[in-house]
Amino acid sequence: MAVNIIKNTPSAIDRAARALREGGLAAFPTETVYGLGADAANGVAVARIFAAKGRPRFNPLIVHVAGLDAATPFAVLNEQALRLAEAFWPGPLTLVAPRRSGCGLSDLVSAGLDTVALRAPAHDVAQALIRASGLAIAAPSANRSGHVSPTRAEHVAADLAGRVEVILDGGPCAAGIESTIVGLMEEEPLLLRPGAIPRERIEAVLGGPLRRPAENGALHAPGGLTSHYAPRAVLRLGVTAPEPGEPCLAFGAVGGAGAPTESRLNLSPSGSLEEAAANLFAFLRALDALGAPSIAVAPIPDVGLGEAINDRLRRAAAPR
Ligand code: TXA
Ligand code: MG
Repeated sequence: MAVNIIKNTPSAIDRAARALREGGLAAFPTETVYGLGADAANGVAVARIFAAKGRPRFNPLIVHVAGLDAATPFAVLNEQALRLAEAFWPGPLTLVAPRRSGCGLSDLVSAGLDTVALRAPAHDVAQALIRASGLAIAAPSANRSGHVSPTRAEHVAADLAGRVEVILDGGPCAAGIESTIVGLMEEEPLLLRPGAIPRERIEAVLGGPLRRPAENGALHAPGGLTSHYAPRAVLRLGVTAPEPGEPCLAFGAVGGAGAPTESRLNLSPSGSLEEAAANLFAFLRALDALGAPSIAVAPIPDVGLGEAINDRLRRAAAPR
């Protein structure tokens, strides 16, 4: 299969929608990262996602829908889930809730669990594709399993060329970090994955604290494997003084010697966590491409979006 990056025009969206309806794969931009989509009701098509990514079958997928009305046939949404959907959909929030039996989704989407993850993306192209196809679209991030998530169409092509019918190019993703995942399987909502909506905003809507599930517990996001988002280089975190010549990822104001170069990138010179999240994966890819054995990463404050940024950095740095 040739690389098939196409600009996002109405005819490109129709072509991608047709590919999905015919059981093929189409990569598309969302406000968080690019997704690798298939018809969520077609088990053969969903199986192709796992094959294209090299993804373990025990790791379930997020189902993308236009909004709350389209989500309710698939899952039992409790009062807290409805409140969160109302506050944040369309947007970078994924809700995990009990799956309705006979809901028509492929069992593979849930990887054998009795829950399903649902999200209504805000990106125009993602919405247009959902509507043009008339489908619920199962879509993980459009990278090979364990690699850094793609925030540009070229990143998708670098990982998946030849494994996907169409890559819709919508330019760089605005948020740059994956959706926040909240589990609503029980009374108490759980933060299954920190992400593009900071926990503080979700807690404000819920009116109470969001607990993280116990590590290795049954309710942990199955895809929350410790090593993930992995560049080739070893990441050294919390480094204030990089080794001479070591590529480094800075954050915030740095002194005169800290001006950006090819091997010294700054996630956000002004110290904005939003800007840092948007740059994170593209900068990690760029520094990794230099081929050095290690990359030094500056400390990032662990508040707001910093929780998701630090989560991805820890996974990228985990031994493998
Ligand atoms: O922003 C995003 O969420 C992007 C875009 C494309 O929407 N998608 C994304 O998908 O990040 P993926 O597959 O890379 O990560 C989805 C995570 C995985 O860690 C998976 O284990 C978890 O969601 N997940 C999916 N279904 C689940 C379920 N039923 N219960 C618990 N975790 C689930
Ligand atoms: Mg992923």
